[in-house]
Amino acid sequence: MPVLNTMRTSFFLTLAAIGSAIAQRPANTSICDYYTTALFGNSNATNEYSLLVALVNTVVIGNYTKPNVGVRVPGILTPGLYNGVLSDILPFFNGALASSNRGGSSGVAINFLDDGGAAPLMKSMPAYTTTSNQYKLMTHLYQFFGSLLGCSAYGSTGFPAYSGSASMASVHRFMDLDPTDLGYFIAQVALAAASFGVADTDVAAVGAALQSLFGYRCAPPTTVIAAQGAQLQSVCEDDTCPLAPNATCAAYPAITPAMDANATGAATASMGTGVGAMTVTWNETCGCHMTQPASNASFSVNMSPTSTMSSASATATGSMTQASNAGVGMREGLGALALAIAGVAFVL
Ligand SMILES: *[C@@H]1O[C@H](CO)[C@@H](O)[C@H](O)[C@H]1NC(C)=O
Ligand SMILES: *[C@@H]1O[C@H](CO)[C@@H](O)[C@H](O)[C@H]1NC(C)=O
Ligand SMILES: *[C@@H]1O[C@H](CO)[C@@H](O)[C@H](O)[C@H]1NC(C)=O
Ligand SMILES: *[C@@H]1O[C@H](CO)[C@@H](O)[C@H](O)[C@H]1NC(C)=O
Ligand SMILES: *[C@@H]1O[C@H](CO)[C@@H](O)[C@H](O)[C@H]1NC(C)=O
Ligand SMILES: *[C@@H]1O[C@H](CO)[C@@H](O)[C@H](O)[C@H]1NC(C)=O
Ligand SMILES: *[C@@H]1O[C@H](CO)[C@@H](O)[C@H](O)[C@H]1NC(C)=O
Repeated sequence: MPVLNTMRTSFFLTLAAIGSAIAQRPANTSICDYYTTALFGNSNATNEYSLLVALVNTVVIGNYTKPNVGVRVPGILTPGLYNGVLSDILPFFNGALASSNRGGSSGVAINFLDDGGAAPLMKSMPAYTTTSNQYKLMTHLYQFFGSLLGCSAYGSTGFPAYSGSASMASVHRFMDLDPTDLGYFIAQVALAAASFGVADTDVAAVGAALQSLFGYRCAPPTTVIAAQGAQLQSVCEDDTCPLAPNATCAAYPAITPAMDANATGAATASMGTGVGAMTVTWNETCGCHMTQPASNASFSVNMSPTSTMSSASATATGSMTQASNAGVGMREGLGALALAIAGVAFVL
């Protein structure tokens, strides 16, 4: 990945120079193009893709670029609290849950951290090779978010168009995601953006777009990727998710709670090595997963639904709390998250 490494160097240098002082984005410039120019000097396919790599990798493993503007990002692989409720989506990534939709009428377990886990992500790469589940997931995420953020070079040489599953509803149908998991995911996207100096108003716009697209139960078909047309996109189909205006529930696939990958119990999965390393074990007593980050740390994100995005930056620097040595459990079927993300690569 020589290109990525080169860009990474220039990215870090530029970021160090600009700090958090980024001026107001003009209305006629996309969030992608504006911040690419701010961070890399000019907005072309190489630089826009590098921005998406840095952003998405930060969403997944937490802040890893040095320096950032002083915002800590736990990342979606680290369990945390959203409005006081625990979210732990790691089991959707590491094969601990049969939550992928590649199995037809039932979910199947797939390890999406099968190509180095956090280690290559920390080098601003998607994976070590180009044939793994991890590579497909990560590159699809760069592409998907590149479209969502309006990258002008999206679909041109150097910034491939999104090639994953068209319907996020199908992709996430075996996850039973709830507002806590989706909220935690969106909060990580917001924090990641804030960590690169993205203005609060733009962070809020991204968060609102994600909530609107994915957060309303039975939402009618919506176009995200222009070439794929209108598709069912809601990933929050649990009963506790807010009902969409003009809800079309009959169009949605039945939602099945994510099942443990190993019905006999005692399943243990581990993810890569390095800063993001974690273990997940099944606890028979509570019927839950016990997740233990290697750092023995779990992070709490306290954000109210209405203030989540606009206050992401302040929250990240001010009230993020770290509970040391805290193993945390996730009740089965309570949502795990979801990852708008984990799902993007499920159907390839
Ligand atoms: C945005 O608008 C400004 C001023 O109206 C103009 O100078 C600039 O070229 C425009 N940028 C794009 C990408 O259209
Ligand atoms: C984009 O601009 C950078 C300089 O910022 C340059 O190194 C790179 O080659 C350019 N990429 C393309 C595809 O033109
Ligand atoms: C993440 O950001 C926080 C706040 O700036 C910082 O203290 C921490 O060292 C960063 N972590 C990494 C791995 O860069
Ligand atoms: C609901 O559907 C009606 C009729 O198609 C449309 O006019 C209206 O804008 C829709 N409302 C929303 C919030 O999408
Ligand atoms: C499932 O659990 C059994 C019994 O503990 C164990 O022997 C087996 O290795 C586990 N399989 C997986 C894939 O974790
Ligand atoms: C398993 O869960 C029970 C009930 O929540 C808890 O008391 C126990 O400490 C857990 N076991 C481990 C090994 O964490
Ligand atoms: C994490 O906590 C466990 C149990 O308290 C301890 O044995 C282990 O050494 C800790 N790991 C780290 C990296 O601090």
